[in-house]
Formats: sequence, C-alpha cells, structure tokens
Amino acid sequence: MTTKIDITLSETKKEKPNVDQLEFGRVFTDHMFVMDYSATKGWYDPRIVPYGPISLSPSTMAFHYGQTVFEGLKAYRTKDDKVLLFRPNKNIERLNLSNDRLCIPQIDEELVIEALKQLVSIDKEWIPTAEGTSLYIRPFIIPTEYYLGVAPSKHYRFMIILSPVGSYYKEGIHPVKIFVENEYVRAVAGGTGTAKTGGNYASSLKAQDEAEKRGYSQVLWLDGLEKKYVEEVGSMNVFFKINGEVVTPALNGSILEGVTRNSIIHLLKHWGVPVSERRLSMEDLYKAYKEGQLEEAFGTGTAAVISPIGELFYNEERMVINNGETGDISMKLYDTLTGIQTGALEDIFNWVVNV
Ligand code: COI
Repeated sequence: MTTKIDITLSETKKEKPNVDQLEFGRVFTDHMFVMDYSATKGWYDPRIVPYGPISLSPSTMAFHYGQTVFEGLKAYRTKDDKVLLFRPNKNIERLNLSNDRLCIPQIDEELVIEALKQLVSIDKEWIPTAEGTSLYIRPFIIPTEYYLGVAPSKHYRFMIILSPVGSYYKEGIHPVKIFVENEYVRAVAGGTGTAKTGGNYASSLKAQDEAEKRGYSQVLWLDGLEKKYVEEVGSMNVFFKINGEVVTPALNGSILEGVTRNSIIHLLKHWGVPVSERRLSMEDLYKAYKEGQLEEAFGTGTAAVISPIGELFYNEERMVINNGETGDISMKLYDTLTGIQTGALEDIFNWVVNV
C-alpha cells in the first residue's frame, strides 16, 4: 500500500539564482518534505510544504547530543526535459544503515523514494542545466523529543530540502590541494565513521580549518589507530592510480561507503582498468610517488563528483601529482559519470531513475 503524501503548495515563488554564481548549498527551493515519528504512531504525516523555518524548543534533543543522520544525492534535468535521480536507492539504504548506528527508527525506503520524486517534480524548475550544475537533495533526520537525558529520542523529524548547486570546490574539475592530516583523526573502526552523521563532520572542522589556513582545500584522513593508512578526504572517498592500477582504501569499518565510490569501481571494472580496494599506507603511497609511480589521484563524492588531486602535503613535503593537472582517468570518469547522470550517455548499469 502506498502512503499518501499531503501537499501544500507555496503561494509565492522565490527568485531563482543566477547559474553563473551558484555556490554549493546556499540557496533553497520553494518546497520541502517533512514527516514525523513517535514511538506510538511510527513515521506519520508525510507532507510537502512551503520551504521555511521550523520551530523547536531549546530542550529539543537535536541541539544537544548529535543524534542526527543525513544523506546527499542529486537530480538532473535532461536535454529533453526529463528529471533523473542518480541511484537514490543506494542513498536511502545507507540512510537506514546510519539510522541503525544512531538508534533512529528505520524508514520505509519506498516512501522516501516517492517523497523524493514528488518533491523534485514540484520544484523541477529549480534544477539548473548548465555544465557542472545540478539540484542537490539533502534528506536528514533530527531527534525532536524535549529531553536532556542521554538516550535515543522517542520522537524524530525527517526532512528533505533541495538546493540548486554548482561545483562543491571552487576549483571545479581543476585539481585541489589536500593536506595529509597527522595530528587529528576522523574515525576509528567501531565508531561512527561509516554512518553519515553530523558528529563526523563536526570533529573534522578543526583539522580542516588549519589545513585551509595553510592553503589546502581539505584534509586526507589517516586511520585513527596508527595514523598510517589512508582513509578518506573530508567530503570524498579517495583513489590513486599507481603504476597502472587504481587503488582505493578498502572499507574497514571507519570509512564512509560512498555511492560515487561504488559507481567508479563499477565503471573502472567495466573498462577493464585494474582496480583494487585494499589497505594503503601513506608510506607506500609516498614511496610510489618518489619512484614516479603515483600517476593520478582523485576524490569521489556526490557533492564533489570527481575531484582531481593535484597536490598532497605530507610530512612537510609537497607531493605534486601529475604536474598538478587533471589526469586522463579522472577526466574520463568525470565525463562518463556526469554523462550518465544527466542522460547524455547510455545508462548501461541502470543507475538512473526517472522522476
Ligand atoms: C555529499 O557528497 O553529498 C556529502 O554529503 C558531502 C558533504 C558533507 C557536502
């Protein structure tokens, strides 16, 4: 049985941003999806309403202990005006995995897909079509019980908001510079590193801030125990092309399982490019660099898509990769992935869902 989503349309329409000046996550569309949870009713009252502020008591648990989860996915408008979502089921599956880790009740995946489709379709005119732009979709859940005890909340709110975006990094498809973090850590196995929860991002800010002051866009996290093995970058998974083989750190209980990461591994395998998911030490990466075998590096993520890495700062040394330029594999992956996402290329893996 499909649950009915109640719809209240906004009486006014906001002005759409100029696509040339689109930043990531600054502007929001006219509507949002909202649904509440209580222990007695389960998830109830799914509704699409005008986008706007919500009112919460200062004692709402959301403000205190960080029991929150979120997702990020994108919608695209094709040349013939169809609206496409990219692998939304993977995001919703992951949302439920994050829910499980944060003691938040599971959510009906079919209902969320339906909510995404209806919301995106109502705000379809907001989907930008210029190269490198898309409509970023942010589903998230906050605990809404009024209580200061440390316990799973008995009430939650699930919301989906939409934001027309340009590239996440100001560099776009041009290489970013990344600082290899050797003081702070992001996550350890058994912690919340594999969940998409606010705390992981809050704890990354200090290192990020220090890296930015030194002229780097983001940090590359090493494992939380030995600070020896490569894990991920602040908002992306990472890949390295070493002597013809593309290597990405194996999922180990503290790395986020990116939907883009998974898609890139599929594409590389499909092309017959050797690709392996394995433990990779920073020492081995540095050795490969010194021996001239580190051919390319790039990050992958929904927000960042494919972001070539032109430089790693490691142990007070600048490791300049591929002369600081975008490599062939990064470019081909970017073109193919965005081609499939925007409907310009054949969707050979059945990844795209029509709204
Ligand atoms: C995404 O790529 O969608 C993310 O969630 C990264 C981010 C925190 C902007």
